[in-house]
Amino acid sequence: MSIIEMDGKTAIVTGGARGIGRAVVEALARAGADVVIGDLRRDEAEAAALEISEHSGRRVVAVQTDVTKLEDAQRLCAETLRLFGRVDVLVNSAGWDRLMPFVKTDPELWDRVISINFRGVVHTCYAVLPHMSERKQGSIVNLSSDTARIGSFGEAIYSASKAAVIAFSKTLAREHARDHIRVNAVCPGLVDTPLIEEMRQDDFTRKIIDSIISYIPFKRMGEPEEIAPLVVFLASDAARYITGQVVSANGGLNMVG
Ligand SMILES: NC(=O)c1ccc[n+]([C@@H]2O[C@H](COP(=O)([O-])OP(=O)(O)OC[C@H]3O[C@@H](n4cnc5c(N)ncnc54)[C@H](O)[C@@H]3O)[C@@H](O)[C@H]2O)c1
Repeated sequence: MSIIEMDGKTAIVTGGARGIGRAVVEALARAGADVVIGDLRRDEAEAAALEISEHSGRRVVAVQTDVTKLEDAQRLCAETLRLFGRVDVLVNSAGWDRLMPFVKTDPELWDRVISINFRGVVHTCYAVLPHMSERKQGSIVNLSSDTARIGSFGEAIYSASKAAVIAFSKTLAREHARDHIRVNAVCPGLVDTPLIEEMRQDDFTRKIIDSIISYIPFKRMGEPEEIAPLVVFLASDAARYITGQVVSANGGLNMVG
């Protein structure tokens, strides 16, 4: 028996259609969990669910979800309960970003960034916590970012929204420890995902990303599969004494304690 066992568990992964979220879905299913992907991209989410289900032999389904809408997050939770009868794990990986100097941004961009990266996490946690509290068990892993810990040129609102995710995660960890629910945050550094690929189309962003890569001790971006094991560990009972923590996976980019 391996240290990390997810047999019999059900997980919700937002943003699981691609990038880090998809790697997390794959890793959770390989560890034995059934998984529900909640993502805006219906076709990609369904394709990922089918492929991962075939690989892993677990049940993996997609529910089209816009995490910026509380009613969508509640429907995602209700659908998971209808299909599997329980939610043991929630991983919030849905996210979005555009690099731009702060003074060139506008309120529309601020609202979009905050509503996907912060309010989205608030919505899904609000949807699943009553169920987890009633069962007196659960583990939530929220994808924050190293930008939240050290700041990042061109990402003023994004880094602030990810810092909000950290403060929110720590507070939920305190409020729900008595319910045996753990809440932790994972901070990737720079990871080679479709989001980064799209952002690199812009010259300003590509220069910043290339300069960040030159500062990473490993001199390369991470792969989604290099973030997923940390998320699965924190989601699993192997991490049962770990809550309210913020853990980076970043090739050494930030070594802040
Ligand atoms: N890639 C990186 O370098 C990096 C670094 C630090 C943190 N992160 C964080 O990791 C998470 C995953 O990022 P990624 O790079 O894999 O991005 P990605 O764009 O490759 O994947 C994100 C997924 O989230 C989904 N999504 C976006 N808005 C949504 C919404 N409103 N409702 C539901 N789903 C939505 C997208 O459809 C997509 O499938 C994000 O929270 C991101 O902020 C990424």
